[in-house]
Amino acid sequence: MTTAPTCPVSKDFRFIGTGAFPAGFKRYDELQEQGPLLRVDEPDGSYWVVLDRELAVQSLQDTETFSSAAITPLDPNPAVRMIPVQLDPPEHGKWRSLLASYFAPRRMPYLEGKIRERCTELLDDIVDRGSCDFLQDFAMKFPTTIFLEVVGLPVEEMPQFQQWLAAMVHPDDEGNLDRDALITTMFTVMGRLQEVVAERRANPDPEAQDIISHAATWVVDGEPAKDDDILSCLLLLFLAGLDTVANELTYAMLHLCTHPEDRSRIARDPSLAPAAVEELLRAFSIPEVARKVTRDTELAGQHIAAGDMVLFPLMAMNRDSKHVECAREVVLDRADPPVHYAFGAGPHRCVGSHLARTEMTVFLQMWHERVPDYWLDTDQPLREHWGSIHGMKTLPLRWAPR
Ligand code: HEM
Repeated sequence: MTTAPTCPVSKDFRFIGTGAFPAGFKRYDELQEQGPLLRVDEPDGSYWVVLDRELAVQSLQDTETFSSAAITPLDPNPAVRMIPVQLDPPEHGKWRSLLASYFAPRRMPYLEGKIRERCTELLDDIVDRGSCDFLQDFAMKFPTTIFLEVVGLPVEEMPQFQQWLAAMVHPDDEGNLDRDALITTMFTVMGRLQEVVAERRANPDPEAQDIISHAATWVVDGEPAKDDDILSCLLLLFLAGLDTVANELTYAMLHLCTHPEDRSRIARDPSLAPAAVEELLRAFSIPEVARKVTRDTELAGQHIAAGDMVLFPLMAMNRDSKHVECAREVVLDRADPPVHYAFGAGPHRCVGSHLARTEMTVFLQMWHERVPDYWLDTDQPLREHWGSIHGMKTLPLRWAPR
């Protein structure tokens, strides 16, 4: 049973919401000043929020106390189990190791070539226009084409997958998702993936490098992997790898289009791009992950009961000024770049982090080579939405066409 909170309590805080940028970041910056832990009582559920970086890292590493069976704070008993993100050790490790090889650093030189090709095609479509909605016209398309390439689906299916992605992850103006549309779309995507798994099983290609071709023959615990589990894993790749990269790129470009000195430094010196990616990921860390407590425990002196949900906003970890100097500013050339947790911590730390970094670095270099100077094409406040992932609603950009 939960004892009375000794930490600050909020009845106004909402996990899901919208506001004018940078409201989604500022709310944690402000809460963090009040202490390491917050208790939230929303009409839809109660949970704890960890705002201290070290406490969050320790908890995310302690999978025996903090289970991934539920990973959003308002859904402690989820109907769907996504593999591997909702598995705890030791089951988690079996699936994680199957996936890890496709996203290992040694694969990046091969994938980088594909990423450059896709980036060139998408930039060819927009650079002569002189303006775009960066989110829709580039950021959503780019990781989708890479996903299709890596998992082994025809790139021509990009518009269809992009539409499905939008139906599954984009909330309305109040920040709410249409749950019926989400579930219908999820089954549609799984149906398409199942067709392809069946095709690859019927016509195996021993030379194939893509995930679906290999997944058709995955073995777990000495048995062929079940189709439902394979599909859950492929669906997670679709959800985890697309919206994250799209939104990270959009926040990065929002910073750069409003900070001419930073963008011209990247344009002048493309070798700065990998460090810029790390700093932008740190300053704009968009996922918020949650865990379900398996046994009574304590956080910052507060008793936490088994069954409680705990939220770990990664942005609070990375913008914690107790641990990072000038934590709430973007400093592209930090002498001693801090460790950051934009990809999480513990055994579930993002398996796609090398791919995400490569996509972002290639993009920053190629964009600034072709469009070195650009600016925000509106004087209206820009809206963002938040929940498990933070994202912008739109990012209108303008530049002088060539
Ligand atoms: C900048 C982009 C990205 C960010 C910020 C990001 C962030 C994260 C975070 C925070 C987690 C941990 C979730 C948790 O602890 O509950 C995670 C897990 C995961 N991510 Fe990423 N991700 C990104 C890109 C990608 C890409 C490109 C892929 C692959 C296509 C991917 C695939 C995964 C998978 C499969 C997991 C689950 C890993 C596990 O449970 O062991 N992510 N990601």
